[in-house]
Amino acid sequence: MKNIVVFASGSGSNFQSIIDAVESGKINARITGLISNKDGIKALERAGRHNIPTRILNESVFEDYQDYEKELLLQLAVWDTDLIALAGYLRKIPVSVINRYEHRILNIHPSLLPKFGGKGFYGIKVHQAVIASKEAESGCTIHVVTKEFDEGPVLEQSKVPVKSDDTPQTLAARVLEQEHILYPKVIANYLTTLD
Ligand code: GRF
Repeated sequence: MKNIVVFASGSGSNFQSIIDAVESGKINARITGLISNKDGIKALERAGRHNIPTRILNESVFEDYQDYEKELLLQLAVWDTDLIALAGYLRKIPVSVINRYEHRILNIHPSLLPKFGGKGFYGIKVHQAVIASKEAESGCTIHVVTKEFDEGPVLEQSKVPVKSDDTPQTLAARVLEQEHILYPKVIANYLTTLD
């Protein structure tokens, strides 16, 4: 059975959808840990409720960035990580981790990449930009993480309409609903491709 490690920085509703899919057997894997860059977030509470080990790692507390990278790689090794699922993780993933886990890091992004991806497009800003550009549709994208931010190969997308009376919040909620369906499904399929 494969081991998934989730990275989250906030609410962790996508993390929850992965937990639920594992617990119901839709994903044939274990979640061996949660990495967060800060304390006090809801994702950590969710991990606690489901007995998932957690580790808070923030590069700012390390004198040397390389020490942070080493610590992160060590933790991932301890958790015997097969797949990393980024779920609303707002920090840069060190290149050493991307190299070590090549093709083994997935990300979910709340737009139809390549549109509204890259630097500055995160959280509500994505949905604000989609509405400001008068897009007829938006959605979410699951992609493999590479060194090029938000640019790795797309695995799957789900689309939703953008309504004329949408606010960034109503659009975010419509997209998030799709995220919770799509991410566990893609993870389950992707795991079958890993050796
Ligand atoms: C989601 O919209 C995800 O696409 C993006 O960050 C948000 C995280 O939400 N990367 P949550 O923490 O999973 O609720």
